[in-house]
Amino acid sequence: MTISPAPPRKRLFIRSWGCQMNVYDSGRMADVLAPLGYAPADTAEDADMVVLNTCHIREKASEKLFSELGRLRVLKQAKEQGGERMILAVAGCVAQAEGAEITARAPYVDLVLGPQSYHRLPEMVARISRATGSVIETDFPTEQKFDFLPDSTTPQGVTAFLTIQEGCDKFCSFCVVPYTRGSEYSRAATAVIAEAKRLVAQGAREIALLGQNVNAWHGEGPSGGTWTLSRLLLELAEIPDLARLRYTTSHPRDMDDALIAAHGQIPQLMPFLHLPVQSGSDRMLQAMNRGHKADAYRHIAEKLRAVRPDIALSSDFIAGHPGETEADHQATLKLIEDVGFALAYSFKYSSRPGTPAATAQMQVAEAEKDRRLQEIQALLREQQDAFNSACVGRSCEVLVTGAGRDEGQFAGRSPWLQPVHGLGSAGMAGQMVQATITAALRNSLTVRLEGNEALGPPPQTPRQEKAAA
Ligand code: 5AD
Ligand code: SF4
Repeated sequence: MTISPAPPRKRLFIRSWGCQMNVYDSGRMADVLAPLGYAPADTAEDADMVVLNTCHIREKASEKLFSELGRLRVLKQAKEQGGERMILAVAGCVAQAEGAEITARAPYVDLVLGPQSYHRLPEMVARISRATGSVIETDFPTEQKFDFLPDSTTPQGVTAFLTIQEGCDKFCSFCVVPYTRGSEYSRAATAVIAEAKRLVAQGAREIALLGQNVNAWHGEGPSGGTWTLSRLLLELAEIPDLARLRYTTSHPRDMDDALIAAHGQIPQLMPFLHLPVQSGSDRMLQAMNRGHKADAYRHIAEKLRAVRPDIALSSDFIAGHPGETEADHQATLKLIEDVGFALAYSFKYSSRPGTPAATAQMQVAEAEKDRRLQEIQALLREQQDAFNSACVGRSCEVLVTGAGRDEGQFAGRSPWLQPVHGLGSAGMAGQMVQATITAALRNSLTVRLEGNEALGPPPQTPRQEKAAA
């Protein structure tokens, strides 16, 4: 028997910006590089290879990247003077969108690779180790990276992320994702279920399914045919020890009746849904190419609450898309009032080169965008505070994720995704505990562990409170 020598030990540092998909991708990059001998490093200074995994969705992504690259250039040069080599790679959506500019402005970058090329990393790293000069890999290859990536080996902890879908064919007027992540692709159900089982075996109690358009998922079923997300969720709910399921991010157009019904049928599916709407104005929704009206969104919210009364909704809003008038802005505030959100993210419109909105007439003045954003954020903040305060005194199940910030505390998540902390220990990680919510802070809740008392009524959403008043 011959034993092949272990690859030399090298260190890898990955810095990730942006969404959970990027965090997930960073984990998979670490997985594919592990067989080449790369183990995680805590800092770039300790690393033989540094990957910057970028996000392009909003402004300043490339400025952030170039300033980080400037810093790393100095580090790379210092290492080279000391006879060491550091491979510098830029990955993610900025790499996809601005690959040529990166190699022109930062020729010391060895590797530029788009999100669809991660499975080729080992081969690319091997190429650079052999040759000099940089390698660019930002085409959309025909084969799918998921078919080539090894099984994830790094345990993700109590809450695990699992990418089931990538890319987007919706082409919202303002968004770069269809250009950077390519067209929609769904992984097969069998591969997703196998990965979910593996994650649970590694200790995950909660799985969040990820995709830019996760509810558009339509993967091949185990015995042929196409499954939709509701079917997949029903199947995943059969995995013993998998206590919680979530999925993000969804589009209102793909919220079909079966998926809405699943929220009433699957106890493991948590009562929290991130469903971006972007605007409450029909005119703007049309200009944004969103493909639905504001009332359709209200209707989805009602149907979800009919099957799962304690569901909390979250959303994304854009203030000041080209052509947005004061009346459109007021319609957005009205939709927020009508629906009531437990949490939401809002952004000032920023022009992304190459998208239709970037060249649209009637760009909104910066000061006007600022004012509208502030109004949206003030209302959303009020709703979030009201939702969190309404939780005080309630009983709920908490999934313990680890140690709290202070000594003698555990940290966890409520069913509504709020971070919680209470007296306990990190040793409780992975347990589902019954707890009473005792205080609401700005972005988290304090809880007290209970015995086995029954669950109290769910917290009311701002809309339900208004109706009850
Ligand atoms: N300007 C502002 N916000 C944007 N988003 C995406 N593109 C832009 C842009 N050009 C926001 C949307 C999306 C979230 C992830 O980022 O609200 O849902
Ligand atoms: Fe972007 Fe629209 Fe696709 Fe979401 S649905 S990723 S906002 S194009």
